[in-house]
Amino acid sequence: MKALQVEGATPALRILRVDASGRVAGSSTRQLTAQVVDAIAAAAGPVSVTRRDVSRGVRLVDEAWIDAYFTPDGERSDAQRSELSQSDAMIGELQAADVVVIGVPVYNFGVPAALKAWVDMVARSGVTFRYTENGPVGLLEGKKVYLVVASGGVGIDDPIDFATPWLRHVLGFLGMTEVEVIGADRQNIVGETAVDNARSQVASLDFSRVTRRAAA
Ligand SMILES: Cc1cc2nc3c(=O)[nH]c(=O)nc-3n(C[C@H](O)[C@H](O)[C@H](O)COP(=O)(O)O)c2cc1C
Repeated sequence: MKALQVEGATPALRILRVDASGRVAGSSTRQLTAQVVDAIAAAAGPVSVTRRDVSRGVRLVDEAWIDAYFTPDGERSDAQRSELSQSDAMIGELQAADVVVIGVPVYNFGVPAALKAWVDMVARSGVTFRYTENGPVGLLEGKKVYLVVASGGVGIDDPIDFATPWLRHVLGFLGMTEVEVIGADRQNIVGETAVDNARSQVASLDFSRVTRRAAA
């Protein structure tokens, strides 16, 4: 069904904000993802924001989930549909989004387990990517992604940073190739400057231009 739209009204830009830090109070990535969302709203007019806090729990891939995943859609039992319900909900949030803002604390040189689990829930063959005779094709195209990456000592894109390059790759695999990285890295080395620099980076980004393109 086509959504009704009041003539002349600006449709809200749909932002999905994903947070992954195990910390709530004092989390630099949460502060920065909030700043990015505020900056987009200030530049792009009405926004609707969906929040997904993966630190609160994401289903892990197990035998029942894989069994449900590989059962054709029309043949799934109620129990199998239930196994996939969180995955379906997370995919729906991504499909609906024009812009995706993800907070990425580096944990043990990679992404937090909860964020990896979220990727496992949203990467589904035939739904968010598919294989063709020319190779895989991502089905989540036309979205702008902002990654807020924070770390204690690892520099973004250093050889030991397995978080940022992996996320760029897997998001691109799903069709999200327009990825901007906002860095609050090396906080234990450079101190408060790390977050200050990230704040300045956010303030310098032209959100009105990118969001119009993402919303088009
Ligand atoms: C469990 C855990 C593991 C961490 N592992 C790393 C790491 O491997 N490399 C690194 O540079 N920082 C590491 N850190 C530091 C965090 O990346 C850093 O504190 C970051 O600011 C966390 O994001 P937040 O401020 O949103 O909580 C780790 C922190 C925690 C809590």
